[in-house]
Amino acid sequence: MKWFKALNKVQIPAHASIKTIEVNGKQLCIINHEDKIIATQSYCPHAGGHLSGGWCKNGHLICPVHRYAYNLETGRGADGQGDYINIYPTELRDDGLYVGFEESWWSKLWS
Ligand code: FES
Repeated sequence: MKWFKALNKVQIPAHASIKTIEVNGKQLCIINHEDKIIATQSYCPHAGGHLSGGWCKNGHLICPVHRYAYNLETGRGADGQGDYINIYPTELRDDGLYVGFEESWWSKLWS
């Protein structure tokens, strides 16, 4: 796991809001849901809607386009959707929020 600083503490989105940022070349949504900070991919796998315009309901992120729902802990789509979103681990440190990315076998070869 490789950790990248995503935000300073003052930049962390307020309760019940979503912010789009770029970390390690990936666009992510940073979500403050019930005082837990969650990082997800920014686009919806259904038809590419931008999840930053969505909202949280019953532990799910709802896409604003066709209202598909994704579990905020596992990324799994609701029953019948058959899809998922990537959820990235987050860590709040003294100097801000960090997001972790799995390292692929080929990236280890080049580092
Ligand atoms: S684009 Fe997100 S539900 Fe269709």
